[in-house]
Amino acid sequence: MGLIKNARHPFYEHCHSALNEIRQQGRYRTFTPLARLAERFPLYEEEVAAVPEGREVVVWSTNDYLGMGVVPEVQEAAIAAIREHGAGAGGTRNIAGTSPLHTQLEAELASLHGKEAGLLFVSGYVSNQASLQTILTSMPGWICFSDRMNHASMIAGIKGARGSQTVIFEHNDLADLEAKLAEAPAEAPKLIAFESVYSMDGDMADIAGICALARKYNAITYLDEVHAVGLYGEEGGGVSQRDGVADQVDIIEGTLAKGFGVHGGYITASAEIVDFLRSTASGFIFTTALPPAVVGAALTSVRKVRAEGWRREKMFERVNTFRQRLRAAGIPFTMTPSHIVPVPIGDAETCKRISRRLLTEYGQYATPINYPTVAKGTERLRLTPGPFHTDEMMDEMVRALSVLLREEGVIPGRSAAERQTEKAA
Ligand SMILES: Cc1ncc(COP(=O)(O)O)c(C=O)c1O
Repeated sequence: MGLIKNARHPFYEHCHSALNEIRQQGRYRTFTPLARLAERFPLYEEEVAAVPEGREVVVWSTNDYLGMGVVPEVQEAAIAAIREHGAGAGGTRNIAGTSPLHTQLEAELASLHGKEAGLLFVSGYVSNQASLQTILTSMPGWICFSDRMNHASMIAGIKGARGSQTVIFEHNDLADLEAKLAEAPAEAPKLIAFESVYSMDGDMADIAGICALARKYNAITYLDEVHAVGLYGEEGGGVSQRDGVADQVDIIEGTLAKGFGVHGGYITASAEIVDFLRSTASGFIFTTALPPAVVGAALTSVRKVRAEGWRREKMFERVNTFRQRLRAAGIPFTMTPSHIVPVPIGDAETCKRISRRLLTEYGQYATPINYPTVAKGTERLRLTPGPFHTDEMMDEMVRALSVLLREEGVIPGRSAAERQTEKAA
């Protein structure tokens, strides 16, 4: 079978023109093939034609914030689970996909967040989408109060809940939230959906404040702790654990793919809320369960993260050191209360070019964050130093940023063209 040529359906033309438009706007996304070197994390290997053995690259943009994905015990747990139970789960949780590992991991997560029960989903995205859509279609008249900056997965669930009403409140603005709650009919079932750490700006929600409003206006709370689990709180239970307010949140959602370094998503809540979602959420029921290797690795990872605080502590020390070095070199960054270090660039093309040049000229990788992930004009590099970024790696990255941000006109200094002219003169 060959390619379908001269396809007459308008969708073919639509794809063509939409892609052209994305390219013209400088938003076309290309993958950077980087193979992680498990034993040398955060070093990765980039395939380059000129270097047969590959080129080493320092990655500054991984969401495996603590490097849990390369911890030998975590890797061994995955291998042991494959040997014991095979490569795939073999079915949905109701058919043949529940192993003792799944049950143990759900109990572990419930205990981490101080909740009665937990439920695994195939990803953090699916846990948000499936849970919110199911809750918001469960009774007539739901009103969902959603933070303006909520993640696409929450928005997908909220938008997919036909028949419910959505009220967007200004980002982290409790006065606006309260005004909107006060306007809503007292008897309507209400839910407030928000995140603890907003991953692109690195700012945090006032969880206690939002929970107090929820109590005042009889709303339930749904908190996404995706960028916080593993990193904040005594045992890595997230910002709600750190602030001692986890018991005030009705549903805490998280991922196993970032701070825990593996894969999968989950919610924790009261036994009956979890049982309700287990029994009714389409995105839980009708998909093959997470494979044993993933669940086994995640279980080991969560247990280690709970028991061993040193990776968290080291990560924050590294983040602070990196910020100090950026400051000393005059490189602008947004000061955040979290582990996320955004370096503002302000233009999609420049952002992509700086990221590209960091990689090709300096062997440093930082993802360019462009529209639609962030608003136009706020394009940035998003850096997440981790426990294993060394002082030398930081020096090299700071030096590279210092040169490139000046050459690309992001900060005052001589551009590449000016340097050429000076050299020629
Ligand atoms: C705030 C937030 N929630 C949910 C998700 C989805 O999590 P996962 O990557 O496990 O699907 C992400 C992913 O980046 C996220 O940033």
